[in-house]
Amino acid sequence: MAKVSIIMTSYNKPGYIARSIQSLLNQTFTDFELFLMDDNSNAETLAAIEPFLKDKRIKFYQSHTQTMDERVEKIRYAALINQALPEASGEYISYATDDNCYRNTRLGQMVDYLELHPDVMVVYSASLVTYLNEQQEITKEQVRPAKRIVPVAPCQVDHCSIMHRSSILPVIEERFGSYWDENPEFYRIGDARFFWRLNHYWDFYPIEEILDDNYITELSIHHQLQQQEKSQFIQMLPPQRTCKELREDLRAMKQKSQNA
Ligand code: TYD
Ligand code: MG
Repeated sequence: MAKVSIIMTSYNKPGYIARSIQSLLNQTFTDFELFLMDDNSNAETLAAIEPFLKDKRIKFYQSHTQTMDERVEKIRYAALINQALPEASGEYISYATDDNCYRNTRLGQMVDYLELHPDVMVVYSASLVTYLNEQQEITKEQVRPAKRIVPVAPCQVDHCSIMHRSSILPVIEERFGSYWDENPEFYRIGDARFFWRLNHYWDFYPIEEILDDNYITELSIHHQLQQQEKSQFIQMLPPQRTCKELREDLRAMKQKSQNA
């Protein structure tokens, strides 16, 4: 048993993943397990992961995903997260990706917050979003603030900036039939879709400090979507649904329950 279960998804980020894993192992709060969910990455990525596997807190899983058809059939990171969650023993759940980094006190500060506020189910922090070019040079930086209690979190809060109680998971599964939605129409905004589910029940509570670094690299799905020349992966994705739709839907739902 660990206090926190972190779920990190990984696919072909050989130049970034070591730094991401290291940022988790450097946490001041050490009572965690890390589910390292790799989606059948290339040898270079596996070589970058390998030295970390001697840390007893890491549970390493590798999928058998082979073809491009399989990669676009479901949101792969959602499928990997859904595979890890039933195994997670932590009272608290936190998500990580293979290109983002936690600042050293992230887990500690979020755990303290949830321990102090037993009625809060989801906490989030500010995040520094950094855009990198192919030479890993910074082209743009932007703070995603965390100043307010958020009833409509899609595209306002990121995947790697939240922690939630594991006790909420049965509620989500009961209502929606799964934890994270694997529908590929939400590939670009899978986290927003999960937050849409959470916001049916709970607001997100802020920690104002920046507790993670979110890197958008030339390998990111988001970057690929914005390019003129679309990769094979992007071309095969179904038309992508939008945050606007998720946000409007939540607002309408909240309005209705206020009027009722
Ligand atoms: P990423 O490329 O980082 O996209 P973005 O930052 O623009 O959202 O992908 C997000 C996560 O999805 C990352 O942890 C890797 C994972 N992933 C898979 O597990 N399998 C795949 O086939 C792809 C494309 C991504
Ligand atoms: Mg990414």
